[in-house]
Parts: sequence; C-alpha cells; structure tokens
Amino acid sequence: MKIGFIGLGIMGSRMAMNLLKNVTELNVYNRTKSKADELLEQGAVWNESPAKLAKDCDVVFTMLSTPKAVGEVAFGEDGFVEQMKKGALWLDCSTVNPSFSRMVADSVLKQNKRFMDAPVAGSLKPAENGELVFLVGGEPTDFDEIRYLLEYMGKAIHHLGSVGKGSSAKMVVNSMLGQAMVAFSEAIALGKSLDLDNDKLFEILIGGPLTAPFIGLKEEKLKNSEYSPEFPLKWMHKDLNLAAWSAYENNCVLPALNAGKEIYSGAKANGMGDLDMSAVYDYMINKLNNKQ
Ligand SMILES: NC(=O)c1ccc[n+]([C@@H]2O[C@H](COP(=O)([O-])OP(=O)(O)OC[C@H]3O[C@@H](n4cnc5c(N)ncnc54)[C@H](OP(=O)(O)O)[C@@H]3O)[C@@H](O)[C@H]2O)c1
Repeated sequence: MKIGFIGLGIMGSRMAMNLLKNVTELNVYNRTKSKADELLEQGAVWNESPAKLAKDCDVVFTMLSTPKAVGEVAFGEDGFVEQMKKGALWLDCSTVNPSFSRMVADSVLKQNKRFMDAPVAGSLKPAENGELVFLVGGEPTDFDEIRYLLEYMGKAIHHLGSVGKGSSAKMVVNSMLGQAMVAFSEAIALGKSLDLDNDKLFEILIGGPLTAPFIGLKEEKLKNSEYSPEFPLKWMHKDLNLAAWSAYENNCVLPALNAGKEIYSGAKANGMGDLDMSAVYDYMINKLNNKQ
C-alpha cells in the first residue's frame, strides 16, 4: 500500500514520523519544505507538490491548519484530489467543521474516490508518542481497512458514524478545551484581584475536581510565562469559530462558547496568535486585568 502525508506542521510532522516507523514507504509534502528535513533524513520520500504525491497513492493523509488551507491543497492549483487514483482514500486529520467535511466528501465521491474525516484530540506530546485519540467519520468498511494505520499514531480510535461525525466530535472536544482554559484563567484573575497568593491558588485548583486535567500539563507554561506553541492560540480561536458556526447551522445556542471565542480573539489581536493557546491566561491576567 502506497501512503502519502501532506501537512508537516507541529502535529503532522510527528504523526508522519510515527507512520514512517511502521510502513515500508511514506511520501510527504509540505508547503515549507524545510519542515520535512527530519522525515527525509529518516527515509521519507519528498514530493514536489500535493498533486505529484497523490498520483500513485492508495491512502493520502492531510493535517492542515484551516478549512481554507484544506480546500486549496485539495482542489486548488496543483491540488491532489484530481490526481488520486479511482478508489484511493483521503483521510483528513485537520480540524474543520463537519459541514465542510461533508461538502469535501461529496466532491471526492463524485470522482469515484473515497474520503474520511479523522481529526485528533491530543497535542504535540501525544502526537510525538503515538498517543493521539482519533475521531473518525466515514464508511465502516473504509474504517476497517485503515484502522491499523491510525493505530500507529494513536492510542484510541473512535469510529463515530458517517462522514462529518469525526469533525462533529472534534467540535465538541475543542469547545471544552477552549472554555476550560478561559474558566481557569478567569478564576485566577479573580483570585489575584482579591489579593490571594497565586501559588496557593494553583495548589488548590490544579489536580482538584474543579480543574480540567490538561491544565495541569500547562502549569509550568503558566507559571513561567513560557508559551512556546504546542497548540497555537490562533487555531484554538479558529476551532471555537468553527464550533460557533456549526452551532448556527444546527440551531444550537452556545452563549458561553461565544464569549470565550471573543477572549481568544482579543488575545490574537494582541499579537498572541502564534503562542500556545494557554497564553490566553496571560492575556486575561496581564492585559484584561492589568490595574497599573
Ligand atoms: N497543535 C495541536 O495541539 C493540535 C491538536 C489537535 C488538532 N490540531 C489541528 O491540527 C491541524 C494542524 O495543526 P498544527 O498545530 O500542526 O498547526 P501548524 O503547525 O500551524 O501546521 C499547519 C500546517 O498547515 C499547512 N498550511 C497552512 N496553510 C496552508 C496552505 N494555504 N497551503 C498549504 N499548506 C498550508 C502548514 O504549512 P507550512 O508549514 O508551509 O506553514 C502546516 O503544514 C489544525 O487544524 C489544528 O487545529 C492541532
């Protein structure tokens, strides 16, 4: 089976590395070629464009930033979908909205090719360790066929139903992620305004039943103001926008999510888009609540 991987950013580079360790040949492409260097050193095969990569592949993975990026790489100039073999399968691991996944699948199916949405929960470290959680939508027979490939990159593989259901679940997961970080940051901002000791508050909240466990993994980042990106804040903002849009399409009322979304929007407007999403803490403590 010939496999291709497009999109070698924070997540894609690490996912591709875990695939490469387990398959006989891995074809790769990334807009910025230097991000493929480590993979090429380990034996991955470089392709000059998405279209060239897809030509003989049986399975193509994408891990791209936004729906717009996915659309351009798949259907734009040098797009890969037209070059895929009949019957070949595209797995999109990017976080996109479910109606986008379904629209893409329609175009792909019309060309007698196959599509699954397979976004992931988990960040840089789980991607590196092959411990992602896959949320998959698509035909059960397609799922059975490629499940073993996902197992090289993930510790849990969930098939949630037809195309779009993986992206739907990802909207749910990231609405929790984004809001939990904001809730924690807001609680600390309140504590600070009441002259409570920050370290003591961390001790009380982190590890306790009120705080999402992933915030414990961010503790050192928050304490040291070290916001090197594991999950860029601009993609957290993107995902909350996609969740809000999905809610609009399905007549779901989400007041808290929309308020949280605008806090990330403010952080991004303050130059924090390329920092880790946990930098929203810094924004709430030092920008929204700076009383100097
Ligand atoms: N980081 C996380 O913790 C995490 C966790 C779960 C899901 N996700 C999702 O996974 C996806 C990738 O995230 P990431 O953190 O790996 O982001 P990233 O490091 O910013 O990587 C984004 C990738 O998309 C490519 N790209 C963007 N626009 C493009 C365009 N117009 N044409 C071609 N390629 C384009 C980038 O290419 P260049 O290298 O050339 O810029 C890069 O390969 C996003 O949908 C994100 O929401 C991220």
